[in-house]
Amino acid sequence: TYLGQEALELAKGYENISCEVLDEEEMADLGMHCLLSVGNGSAQPSQLIVIKYNGGEADEQPHVLVGKGITFDTGGIALKPGAGMDEMKFDMCGAASVLGTMHAIAEMELPMNVYAVIAAAENMPSDRATKPGDVVTTMSGKTVEILNTDAEGRLVLCDALTYVERFNPKSVIDIATLTGAVIVALGHQTAGVMGNDQGVIDDLLAAGDTSLDHAWQLPIKETYKKQLKSSFADLANIGGPSAGSITAACFLSYFTEDFRWAHLDIAGT
Ligand code: BES
Ligand code: ZN
Ligand code: MG
Repeated sequence: TYLGQEALELAKGYENISCEVLDEEEMADLGMHCLLSVGNGSAQPSQLIVIKYNGGEADEQPHVLVGKGITFDTGGIALKPGAGMDEMKFDMCGAASVLGTMHAIAEMELPMNVYAVIAAAENMPSDRATKPGDVVTTMSGKTVEILNTDAEGRLVLCDALTYVERFNPKSVIDIATLTGAVIVALGHQTAGVMGNDQGVIDDLLAAGDTSLDHAWQLPIKETYKKQLKSSFADLANIGGPSAGSITAACFLSYFTEDFRWAHLDIAGT
């Protein structure tokens, strides 16, 4: 709720930014049952925050940013261990960096169109929470078997990524504190970058080097995708212990087939 208010506040300050916050009912009408399943256990309502910066021509395709906005990640019914759980208030860092980027773009008055979508939810255990083994239908129509409620970032992002198709984007970049595995792979110094378009990925790698906010590419290959097989749904939401950052990105890749896309896993950085 606070994130949504901040986004609306940002929009008020700039002529060419507009902001709309979709509530749970509007998301249900759109079929975003995968995103909504993450917030089921929380007293806080889930939100889809849509921010539009129009600095370019009216008919110019926008670049789109998508942020993971888990305002607290307890793990849900697959509860995280107590030690370190306090840190999981930072599980909205993707959303925060998207908001900050939109602010910077507006200050710089960039001559382009940039849209942002924040998938906001709180991942809590309760009697209403999603249970391991539940199957949900995404906005895309694909079904997902939620084997681990702690792999919730990809569940909110997949519906946000389907939502942005309507903008006919020039490129889509999502940013998320998505996996502990990226910390194992790259530590706290370097973000993981993956995607379906080498041009977008190369631009991000170069921008990271220029700004000393480094990223390193990990491979998304067909052979990893079989780790997401489910007996009950189109996809499982976890791919086992190996290559956890890659299988998370593979999951997202099923929802980004119609545009140029890159994904930043910033769990370590
Ligand atoms: N928010 C976490 C990822 C995370 C972990 C960020 C540690 C920063 C530090 C994410 O939602 C998560 O819990 N991921 C699980 C996925 C697993 C269940 C497949 C993880 O990384 O353990
Ligand atoms: Zn999380
Ligand atoms: Mg989690």
